[in-house]
Amino acid sequence: MDILKFESVALDEDKNLLRLLDQTKLPCEIEFLELQDIHDIWNAIYKLQVRGAPAIGIAAAFGSYLAALNIDVNDFESFFEKFHAAKEYLNSARPTAVNLSWALNRMEKIALDNREIEISEIKTLLKNEAIKIKDEDTQMCRKIGELGLTLIKDGDGILTHCNAGQLATSKYGTALAPIHLGRERGMNFHVYCDETRPLLQGARLSTFELIADGVDTTLICDNMASQVMKNGWVNAVFVGADRIAANGDSCNKIGTSGLAILAQYYKIPFYVFAPTSSIDMNIKNGADITIEERPSEEITEMWYKKRMAPEKVKVYNPAFDVVSNELIAGIVTEYGIARPPYSESLREIFERKNTNG
Ligand code: MRU
Repeated sequence: MDILKFESVALDEDKNLLRLLDQTKLPCEIEFLELQDIHDIWNAIYKLQVRGAPAIGIAAAFGSYLAALNIDVNDFESFFEKFHAAKEYLNSARPTAVNLSWALNRMEKIALDNREIEISEIKTLLKNEAIKIKDEDTQMCRKIGELGLTLIKDGDGILTHCNAGQLATSKYGTALAPIHLGRERGMNFHVYCDETRPLLQGARLSTFELIADGVDTTLICDNMASQVMKNGWVNAVFVGADRIAANGDSCNKIGTSGLAILAQYYKIPFYVFAPTSSIDMNIKNGADITIEERPSEEITEMWYKKRMAPEKVKVYNPAFDVVSNELIAGIVTEYGIARPPYSESLREIFERKNTNG
């Protein structure tokens, strides 16, 4: 199977619908959802049928375009009131990944900047913008992959957490992009995938896409990372991010911060991979990032034939945590690898981005 031909998120322009690879069904079933209604799209984002920061942003951009298509009014004020409500609704599906609001704000700006033209023309511009958001993501991921490849050599062992791969983006992924690009060039890496409790994105998704690309892949439970590092099998840790603060504090799937602490102990470089669309320069540090909390059943019931914990037990289920900037060897973006101190290097990354347009 050529995993790089898989599209997690796509717009069917003829049928005006959003096509999503249902990630809750992987790896056992490869099933595509076809959605038009924004409530269904909200639900798909909330339930992680589409997931991963860039993929969520792209799905929401297409979702807001489909919402715009259904707004049947001729004056801008009435159109915008409904469009804005749809945008806010989609934005409420998940709080942590900044790509969601980033993509939706881009869509809203297109509408506002073109208030003087016909509503039908605004709808066409919205479609073009959503397609552009997706295409740009592919280019960003490819550049991130190229830069990431400079950090490793053929035969290296890489430990990763959650899924920051092709499935989580438009193409290639972020943390897994160097692995896929390396494969295209005949390189081989040993990738250790944390299973990533409780939703098992590592066990179900990263292993699926890496094996599909012919990568030597080993699945470990989250609590085995220390042992694998101690064995000397890991040359670098590569993870993605849902939101990076201006000081480099990086929020990613729950369990990532523990991994960074272990990597420091074993003197293994810990790299965060993210497009600039995942960097939130309005947030000073990680303490200001909203951490999504999810239903307790994800821990107590999902994946078990019978509920495995007592009915009355209290459950804490944060979906993300924040890696302190001092644990990060580099943040790999499409505009270069930021190094500490991140308050300066991330500012430079954005200066580069703004100069390059
Ligand atoms: O809850 P998820 O599966 O959406 O969480 C995804 C992650 O934490 C990814 O590492 C992150 O979004 C980066 S994806 C390129």
